[in-house]
Amino acid sequence: MADTALVIGGTRFIGRHVVEDLLDHDYEVTIFNRGNHENPFADHDDVTRVEGDRRDDTDLKAAALSVQPDIVIDCVAYYPEDVRVAVDLFSDVDGYVYISSGSAYAAEEIPKREGETALCDCTDEQATDDSHASYGPRKAEGDRIVFEAAEDGVNAMSVRPCIVYGPHDYTERLDYWIDRVLNYDRVVVPGDGQNLWHRAYVEDVASALRVVAEEGEPGEAYNVGDRRLVTMEEMVDLVADAADTDCEVVHAGEHELAAAELSPDDFILYRDYPHVLDTDKLAALGWESTPLAEAMERSVADHRDSDRDGSEHDPGREAEERVLGVLDTL
Ligand SMILES: NC(=O)c1ccc[n+]([C@@H]2O[C@H](COP(=O)([O-])OP(=O)(O)OC[C@H]3O[C@@H](n4cnc5c(N)ncnc54)[C@H](OP(=O)(O)O)[C@@H]3O)[C@@H](O)[C@H]2O)c1
Repeated sequence: MADTALVIGGTRFIGRHVVEDLLDHDYEVTIFNRGNHENPFADHDDVTRVEGDRRDDTDLKAAALSVQPDIVIDCVAYYPEDVRVAVDLFSDVDGYVYISSGSAYAAEEIPKREGETALCDCTDEQATDDSHASYGPRKAEGDRIVFEAAEDGVNAMSVRPCIVYGPHDYTERLDYWIDRVLNYDRVVVPGDGQNLWHRAYVEDVASALRVVAEEGEPGEAYNVGDRRLVTMEEMVDLVADAADTDCEVVHAGEHELAAAELSPDDFILYRDYPHVLDTDKLAALGWESTPLAEAMERSVADHRDSDRDGSEHDPGREAEERVLGVLDTL
């Protein structure tokens, strides 16, 4: 009999790829969500959908009882209480995997390592707050609940992705850069182009979640990110190669950007201090990541098929043109 997997979430981005990966690995899959987003698996015979709100304990309990899953992938645990309820409801599954985040790390170190790099603290106030500022603390508290549950015998694990990109990415962060490369010959990259913000290809995040559910050690956290990471300039070059186009990367320092009232932080995926996750622990479980060129080709192809343009992150092409003008006079 096939193993059964319950995916809490499953219809938008990471969860959607999780479902596909599980199907490719012969699981019977049930997704649990509220039905606010279109279900891409509506016509799929091997995917059952249970409707409910994970913040309503009765709904999740009913799903746990009706599905009796072998493994659970929890895509929508944003509050410590969500994880507390889940490790209790799924205390006897073979693997419960909580999607945490690289934002759970408090210390800026290169690389950030599981079990070594300090995690964020989480106050009672932060635990129920819904602002972006408390996201890292809430994710870290979820990790600690996973660790405690494992001490009580629950097969609970956590996976910490860095910035995730790829098909169906509703955050549109990479879409901004793809859109720039597809539409302009010259693209402004802040600073010297060498800044590093570790990214994770979404299909690799999906496989990581399954591999950890199957092979992970209860009470452990596993970082996930591209095995080989690239600088911002290399990322833009990868996009251009994947799109089979040419694009000149133009560096603009703080001074040149200031001429158009811009700063490096106005550019999405720019981060001053490098954010790099060590991925050795996950790789030791047999997980592998997709070659970057392939990951970017699939991301660009999906961008072209979608109506995403990343415009919500656009610092303004006019301002950028002004920066290019300043640089041309130097
Ligand atoms: N994207 C990144 O760069 C990144 C990085 C690190 C960590 N993460 C983590 O990845 C997870 C997000 O993944 P995703 O959004 O891509 O997953 P997803 O599973 O593809 O999409 C979210 C799903 O959750 C459902 N949902 C939302 N609230 C719900 C609720 N209260 N009860 C039941 N279902 C609910 C949504 O459908 P309905 O609205 O229809 O219910 C949707 O199916 C989060 O835990 C996030 O912290 C993301």
